[in-house]
Amino acid sequence: MTTSPKTAIILGTGLGQLASEITDSYEFPYSEIPNFPVSTVEGHAGKLIFGKLGNVDIMAMEGRFHYYEGYNMKEVTFPIRIMYELGIKTLFVSNASGGMNPEFKIGDLMIITDHINFFPEHPLRGKNFPTGPRFPDMHETYDKKLIAEADAIAAEKGIRVVHGVYVGVQGPTFETPAEYKMYHRLGGDAVGMSTVPEVIVAHHCGIKTFGISIITDLGLEDTPVEVSHEEVQIAANKAQPLMTEIMREMINRA
Ligand code: HPA
Repeated sequence: MTTSPKTAIILGTGLGQLASEITDSYEFPYSEIPNFPVSTVEGHAGKLIFGKLGNVDIMAMEGRFHYYEGYNMKEVTFPIRIMYELGIKTLFVSNASGGMNPEFKIGDLMIITDHINFFPEHPLRGKNFPTGPRFPDMHETYDKKLIAEADAIAAEKGIRVVHGVYVGVQGPTFETPAEYKMYHRLGGDAVGMSTVPEVIVAHHCGIKTFGISIITDLGLEDTPVEVSHEEVQIAANKAQPLMTEIMREMINRA
């Protein structure tokens, strides 16, 4: 079987289910791919899956690399370079994050409209790859057409979605109350430990990106609540079917 996917998806928190819907698939464990880092965090497997989602050829990354695991940014974003080389044009990503916008509820799906990069190392630091300019424009990092399409799909299906700015931080600590407050005041609606590096590199490669964040906990000003990895997983699992429905439909139309 041959495949030439133009669409890739990073199956972050809350999208695991989508992997089981990929048909005609063949899989490459990361451990078998030269130079590929290997994922270590609980709840994240590690393989590239090629196959079909509905009628669409797709490449899926099950398990991603987080900066807090100790990888450098070249490693974290290496899979995006592979996507580019394979001809991927559109990238879908998901993640879990802590909501800071007081209108958000746990379990909400936040369509990422923009981001703030708080990682201590920039993924494009170093010699510029000729896939894009040395000083890339970041005005429309998250594709507006895809955002509008997601809104339409959510409305059709009666799924509540919110829009917001995702703040990318290194972790692995969750935020202190003062940090949640700061990130919110700086313009963030949700904060999480992934996505921003991959999206920056994809953008530099001319790959359109679309992302959804599951709000798994809340870091609201003046009402800080404790958060644990388990809670994040539980909230993400609950929101999973709705997120999957939106992503499945978007990929179908891709
Ligand atoms: N902060 C950072 N990362 C996260 C959070 C959070 O509150 N929730 C899920 N991932």
